[in-house]
Amino acid sequence: MSGFGNEFATEAVAGTLPEGRNSPQRVAHGLYAEQLTGSAFTAPRGSNRRSWLYRIRPAAVHGPFEPMRRDDGPARFHNDFGDGPVTPDQLRWDPLPMPATDAPTDFVDGLFTMAGNGGPAAMTGMGVHLYAANRSMDGRFFYDADGELLIVPQLGRLRIATELGVLEVEPQEIAVIPRGVRFRVELPDGTARGYVCENFGALLKLPDLGPIGSNGLANPRDFLTPQAAFEDVEGDFELVAKFQGHLWRADIGHSPLDVVGWHGNYAPYKYDLRRFNTIGSISFDHPDPSIFLVLHSPSDTPGTSNLDFAIFPPRWLVAQDTFRPPWFHRNIASEFMGLVHGAYDAKAEGFVPGGASLHNCMTGHGPDAATFDKASAADLSRPDVIRDTMAIMFEARAVIRPTSQALAANHRQRGYQACWDGLGKHFRG
Ligand SMILES: [Fe+2]
Repeated sequence: MSGFGNEFATEAVAGTLPEGRNSPQRVAHGLYAEQLTGSAFTAPRGSNRRSWLYRIRPAAVHGPFEPMRRDDGPARFHNDFGDGPVTPDQLRWDPLPMPATDAPTDFVDGLFTMAGNGGPAAMTGMGVHLYAANRSMDGRFFYDADGELLIVPQLGRLRIATELGVLEVEPQEIAVIPRGVRFRVELPDGTARGYVCENFGALLKLPDLGPIGSNGLANPRDFLTPQAAFEDVEGDFELVAKFQGHLWRADIGHSPLDVVGWHGNYAPYKYDLRRFNTIGSISFDHPDPSIFLVLHSPSDTPGTSNLDFAIFPPRWLVAQDTFRPPWFHRNIASEFMGLVHGAYDAKAEGFVPGGASLHNCMTGHGPDAATFDKASAADLSRPDVIRDTMAIMFEARAVIRPTSQALAANHRQRGYQACWDGLGKHFRG
């Protein structure tokens, strides 16, 4: 079903949805009615999100939760961003290593927290995670009470079976799973790797377009929400919850993906990043990278996001008398970048698909020396085209604090700063 945040109505069995009311005395087919809210009851109508679910058993039916522990050491997926000193250095990582073939690792086990800010207690900020997995979730279901999950596959497709229907995504697409929605991730290709942004703040939304007008950037009709699909299955299953930064597990005797019909505007969705209408300069300079914004989580300060999700897709570069790659810069915002596909135009080498970089508030960065030299001498009489690329950025208002496991990781590039060493002195007074 297409459209961002639409008021959808869908049923997998005809006659499931009640007519003209939400909670009839007896729901059709012996189902239970349950409301799931994603905004305050009294949020303004334009930002009010909730859905009504008609299901085989209510979400309340499961065993008691107990803390979930890993067999092989401390939790890798958490929201402990520390409160001590944080380095202002530029940071970069190689891709998260894939799990060994003899170490079965599903999507939840495969999550590795890289960085973040704020937290679920304050309901502001974000967590940045990578995942690397080599098996489907089997008999296990997960939900995140701490935030909505923006999932960005980099390697391998994901089949995400949720309470509200099934999403299938491949690299260069994204999926968003709302806070609280239960789901299971299957790996049609056997292995998968990617990025996850966990948004603790206000729900992701499309940005206002201002003078761009009524079309452009990510167009609302390209966002897709699944039709209702349910499982009527019983067994010895596990429900994993992320609640206040920690994982909990409970026994559950049935699949919680048992919603036969639902209506509302709080639901998972997917988007193909290749449909992004990229806009740029046709004269000189290039606009601020806010022009690449796909979705954002607003803060209480107008114009200042809790979280921006931006992409750098294929595009033409035509600007005249202009340094065409991204300029050198220091921003008040903090930037976590990833690369889904191809090469990134500001770096000649070292930033590879599946890798990551972190440039925090006021940390100087920009093109490496090789890119600077090439772009400074480029022939501007011809347009350039950047093909085969898809870089992503999770940008935040608050400093993005790397976790101790990310700083200590073997796949961190400890020599990253050397990429700027070749930027010599050209000044001739
Ligand atoms: Fe930057």
